[in-house]
Amino acid sequence: MKNQHKAPAFEGLTHLEIEEINAEMGHYENKTAVSIESLKIVQKHRGWVSDASLVAVARLLDMSPAQLEGVATFYNLIYRQPVGKTVILYCNSVSCWMLGAEKIRERLCQHLKVKLGEMSADGEYTILPIACLGACDHAPVLMVGDQLKLDVTDNVVNEILGR
Ligand code: FES
Repeated sequence: MKNQHKAPAFEGLTHLEIEEINAEMGHYENKTAVSIESLKIVQKHRGWVSDASLVAVARLLDMSPAQLEGVATFYNLIYRQPVGKTVILYCNSVSCWMLGAEKIRERLCQHLKVKLGEMSADGEYTILPIACLGACDHAPVLMVGDQLKLDVTDNVVNEILGR
């Protein structure tokens, strides 16, 4: 029989991911309205969004991969390359910059032996810049995983680095 081993319709996605994306689609008339949510679902399961996954999501949403890539690029919390288990976002907007964000970033990068965007050798951390985290009156600010760290001092950095 021909095509017995034909690839699944949305190769690059698991059944669970497809199920969750379909559930989101149920809330909207337009499939493209769930593009960010769909990428977040993939990222929740895999830690990042590979090219294969992006193409599969695009197909599921009747979008071109280029259109969906545009969405992924615009939304800077969609990771298009592997990241560590914990992503440390450091705010590089003006208030945090004035109050020492660069020094904090340098210290974190030195300690973890990574450049911005790289994964630490143990796979635990990736440090990424982000625009204002909305807590400027508590600058400098970091987001460590899902925890917002305000008024970051050397002690907070030590705590993050497990000292
Ligand atoms: Fe850093 Fe707003 S400038 S939180």
